[in-house]
Amino acid sequence: MTETQKKAFIKTYGCQMNVYDSERMGDVLAGMGYGVTDTPDEADLVILNTCHIREKAAEKVYSELGRFREQKRQRADDGRELVIGVAGCVAQAEGEEIVRRSPAVDLVFGPQTYHRLPQLLSRFAEERQPLVETDFPAEDKFDHMPKLPRPEAPRAVTAFLTVQEGCDKFCTFCVVPYTRGAEVSRPVRKIIEDAQRLVDRGVREITLLGQNINAYHGEAADGRRWSLGRLLDELALIEGLDRLRYTTSHPRDMDDELISAHRDNPKLMPYLHLPVQSGSDTVLKAMNRRHTAAAYIGVIEKIRAARPDIALSSDFIVGFPGETDADFEATMSLVKSVGYASAFSFKYSPRPGTPAAEMENQVPEAVKSERLSRLQELLNSQSRAFLQSCLGREMDILIEKPGRKAGQLAGRSPYLQAVHVEDQHHGIGDMVRVCIDSVGANSLSAHTVGADADSLPRAMTTA
Ligand code: 5AD
Ligand code: SF4
Repeated sequence: MTETQKKAFIKTYGCQMNVYDSERMGDVLAGMGYGVTDTPDEADLVILNTCHIREKAAEKVYSELGRFREQKRQRADDGRELVIGVAGCVAQAEGEEIVRRSPAVDLVFGPQTYHRLPQLLSRFAEERQPLVETDFPAEDKFDHMPKLPRPEAPRAVTAFLTVQEGCDKFCTFCVVPYTRGAEVSRPVRKIIEDAQRLVDRGVREITLLGQNINAYHGEAADGRRWSLGRLLDELALIEGLDRLRYTTSHPRDMDDELISAHRDNPKLMPYLHLPVQSGSDTVLKAMNRRHTAAAYIGVIEKIRAARPDIALSSDFIVGFPGETDADFEATMSLVKSVGYASAFSFKYSPRPGTPAAEMENQVPEAVKSERLSRLQELLNSQSRAFLQSCLGREMDILIEKPGRKAGQLAGRSPYLQAVHVEDQHHGIGDMVRVCIDSVGANSLSAHTVGADADSLPRAMTTA
């Protein structure tokens, strides 16, 4: 690294796919000689990788841009340049509007165009004019990016890997089909190659990402289109890869092959995020979810039959237009009948350009708040109960980092809970067998059992 190396600071908002995209932008920029920094003050390029899913998330970007605008001004006084880019779903949805609202912004580019960062930056260097790139290009961005991961990227035990992107479902509340575009599955071979490269670098657990991942139907070498269940089985053959996860799924696409994988694929972890949004059939219909509450529960029953210990998670929206007290009670009943290990719940937020934003029967804010707090109370009690149910149980923990205290390691359970392990003999990247001793607010504490005999020591040297 030289003194004069340019530095980029990338700030990520929103979902795991944005986290993955930010890492990939880091790879593209590294290929151009940039160093990636965690310190905005030393950056020559700042990229905000934004989220448009709810109004709050989108508005955060503008307040952040206000701060960077000030920094840019101070820099200019010192004769140094700060280039500001807005990427991600706000960039895609608002395009030119961002430059109008925030004149300090130099580059606006959507989620499908970040492989073009080198061209964008060099065009900007020549033209010195704000550039907005929000087309959906015909080429596959993954073919135009450096092979992952970049050699100087920090080593990690877990990694995300995008296998599917975009959505064709058009739920009436959701901006994703507009910001991420139509559903596209990456070919099987490219996914396997990426996964193998990650494993070669020490990754032990891969979470496959897609907005609608269980609709995956990627092209395979046999000329067929493979389902997600088949893809997971193929990935499980990679030696040294211990754990597989995937997110996010739609209830209509939980096919039998995927459900069987939860029974038969030992590397597929017993955790499933399956958003239902509401327990009321009237609301589900207005949301264009295209399934009923009973159909969702039917899917849950099938999954539980295949994998009885599976930890379930979901997303909920309260106060969707027209939601009555009875509709909301139907959501509460569904939650009670399923029993979730974890969940995310939100107040409905009208998004420009989506059908639900135009619906007349919007629910007052106070009603949304009251419903949200009741729902969250119920969901929190369920997640506490799930943590409690782990007490005294033995399970395998993948160690991801040192613990907070000396003599402690931190990892995750098969059910995705954070676990603090008392252990002096293992290291990062090891899979250790533990017994759960105590339960915290959001985590578990454990000690190793069977010491080295039961574990797979594979301590990694950190780069
Ligand atoms: N308002 C509130 N929540 C929303 N979500 C998506 N769109 C909206 C919206 N307009 C939630 C859904 C989805 C999660 C990622 O965000 O629950 O599953
Ligand atoms: Fe949005 Fe998910 Fe519905 Fe697609 S399936 S429109 S990503 S909520």
